[in-house]
Amino acid sequence: MSRYALADSGPLATLHHEVLALLWDDTTRPLINKAVKLPGAACLDLGSGGGSVAAWLASEVGNTGLVLAVDRVLQPGFPIRSTLHHEVHEMTARAPLPSKWMRHTWDLVHARLALVHMEGRDEIATALAGRLKPGGVLLITELVPDGRVLRAPSDEDRDLVHRILVGVADSFVASGTDRGWSLRAAAVLADAGLEVSGARYGRMWRGGSHGAGFVAGTVLQLQSDLLEREFTPAQIDRALELFMDPDFLMSGHLMSSTWGTKR
Ligand SMILES: C[S@@+](CC[C@H](N)C(=O)[O-])C[C@H]1O[C@@H](n2cnc3c(N)ncnc32)[C@H](O)[C@@H]1O
Repeated sequence: MSRYALADSGPLATLHHEVLALLWDDTTRPLINKAVKLPGAACLDLGSGGGSVAAWLASEVGNTGLVLAVDRVLQPGFPIRSTLHHEVHEMTARAPLPSKWMRHTWDLVHARLALVHMEGRDEIATALAGRLKPGGVLLITELVPDGRVLRAPSDEDRDLVHRILVGVADSFVASGTDRGWSLRAAAVLADAGLEVSGARYGRMWRGGSHGAGFVAGTVLQLQSDLLEREFTPAQIDRALELFMDPDFLMSGHLMSSTWGTKR
């Protein structure tokens, strides 16, 4: 049984969603713009979180379009727009969407850092591929967990951060997250009959940057699990200190975007 590893609510959840938007909206938006003509489009945003992508879509589709954001939680401050609907729904293989939306067809189905957390992700993606309009696109963006330390005050610090990153990955796997999903998504979309393309991109993150803050926030959300695994409070504190140190450098996680078009 899968459960979402990260916080559903509270300041760390809010911060997490804000940082996701700051880190990746500027690459998500051009990808969507290239894939789909948004004015008048019907768009679905899966695991919509804080709603930055859904709100942007709602402004782009205009009054003749429609955006449905689906998430197991309605985040406080989720943007309100006349063209933006939000459904609180736990997406599963049996019920990818609330039943009243299952017959809809879409120009865009978008899922960023979302399907990876869902049990039945293959079936959900396949079912929604079947609800695309001709020319419609299903765009999946996932993280390839391969952050590496590029500069740290000592070898011990470098080693600690690498071990913490492995610990974070292990905590996600223990909660049912499929860390291999970014590599399997293309095959799932192709098997669903879509014409598939993809891109990978990444950046370097300095201590104190949004990227390093994203990693620090994830460590904080998972810290009770990390403490149970192998780490001491002093080690976690040291890692958090490094993520805020402007002399610390790491290669940020690669992002992998996979999109399939219905012909
Ligand atoms: C890492 S956040 C990504 C949020 C947003 N897509 C973004 O990129 O900014 C993952 C989101 O997926 C939601 N989620 C996880 N499992 C879910 C499920 N089974 N059904 C619906 N939402 C789910 C979480 O509540 C969370 O808001």
